[in-house]
Amino acid sequence: MFLTDASIATTPLIPCHKKELKSYIKQQSSTVKRWIKQADFEAKKGSFCLIPNKKGEIDHVLFGIDNETEYRWALSTLAEKLPLGHYRLEADWSKEQQQQAAIGWGLACYQFERYKQSDRIAPSLLVEKKSKRIKAFVAAVKLVRDLVNTPAADMMPQDLATVAKALANQFDAKFKQIKGDNLLRKNYPCLHAVGRASSHEPRLIRLKWGNPSDPKVSLVGKGICFDTGGLNLKPSQFMRFMKKDMGGAAHVLGLAQLIMTLNLPIYLEVFVSAADNAVSSDSFRPGDVLTTRSGKTVEIDNTDAEGRLVLCDALTKAGEANPDLIIDFATLTGAARVAVGTEIPAFFTNNDALTAEINQASFQSNEVVWQLPMHKPYRSYLDSDIADLLNSSPQGYGGAITAALYLNEFVSKNTKWAHFDMMAWNNRDRPGRPKGGEAMGLLAVFQLLENRYAH
Ligand code: BES
Ligand code: ZN
Ligand code: ZN
Repeated sequence: MFLTDASIATTPLIPCHKKELKSYIKQQSSTVKRWIKQADFEAKKGSFCLIPNKKGEIDHVLFGIDNETEYRWALSTLAEKLPLGHYRLEADWSKEQQQQAAIGWGLACYQFERYKQSDRIAPSLLVEKKSKRIKAFVAAVKLVRDLVNTPAADMMPQDLATVAKALANQFDAKFKQIKGDNLLRKNYPCLHAVGRASSHEPRLIRLKWGNPSDPKVSLVGKGICFDTGGLNLKPSQFMRFMKKDMGGAAHVLGLAQLIMTLNLPIYLEVFVSAADNAVSSDSFRPGDVLTTRSGKTVEIDNTDAEGRLVLCDALTKAGEANPDLIIDFATLTGAARVAVGTEIPAFFTNNDALTAEINQASFQSNEVVWQLPMHKPYRSYLDSDIADLLNSSPQGYGGAITAALYLNEFVSKNTKWAHFDMMAWNNRDRPGRPKGGEAMGLLAVFQLLENRYAH
């Protein structure tokens, strides 16, 4: 276990700012003085030095911090690199800062081991209080990472359903799904159209949890298990990591797990639109016109703009129950990545007060999310000659905004709604954030929900 609350011997981890190093060294024995010099330890951020006692055992660990050090990631390098053992933080940090650091420790101990066992056993960190909360955060992110990292062949719509069902069983939630041609009978035409070419049937996966008298919150996730682009086939370099296109689904399942573990007083409804955007003679085509659940007709400009299609039917359904808040997560556009890069989720809302709440939650949770404008004049880029709208703008600019404007057509103005367009994937290794699947915006949104609903 990466975190421990047992009463066992632990080695202290002591932060050291560059400007504190001299006075620290002054107080040490001549052996330790020489040791630090020989190790060339300068207390740079991310560096550390094992300090021996007289017997040659590790007495404590000194680690470098600077003014830019984020508490969340302050211990992550240590968790990744320290020898196996039990450690405790000895720092005059606030409770909140220590909790943040413990989360970063836990996240650094993550390894994706479904297909290859790692030979590294993570060291453990002593946490005294609120470890349930810390463990729940880490477990939620781990679930997201595991789901995203799992290749499409093992994470098809039926596999997402299995995960959702297991969550429902664990937390006494209700599980429902509508699959295959039943999607047509129950009026989810766009989800059906996107998924119908695949032998892995598309499905709408639903979870309901909590007390119906609490405020209702609906989470909607894009669950494209693999995005070939459809008939508008992606070039190979853009298709390579499209197993991650169910990242939105992974986020809402991870967030649901967190909400249920920490027992947030909301009535939660989760919708996962799961489909495999594949190619076959039954693929939907550019130029086809689909009638959405809402009744609006949509002309397909590009089969690679499939995420908004599977989402629009789920958003319509979510809105039918008049929830207090709808939040969707989706790996929706490459354009959002051009706008804010791969490591910052972009968000849109239909309500300025909600935007302010998200910004505040982002600040509190130390997770950057960034608003892009729901700029109504761009709606005309989606005008179609033969249908109510196009699914994508034929002119290439502002793609994240036009995608959000498409979704906006399916949410009532009276329902508060936020849409997160994120990468769900780390392109590079950073402390606590290995290459591969990643939760982005999840902790900020959980903070938002706590601010709004926790008594
Ligand atoms: N899943 C992709 C978006 C994506 C690509 C997210 C790469 C993150 C990284 C989505 O389905 C897609 O292909 N979108 C198109 C939309 C376009 C056809 C209007 C895009 O962004 O190019
Ligand atoms: Zn696509
Ligand atoms: Zn996609």
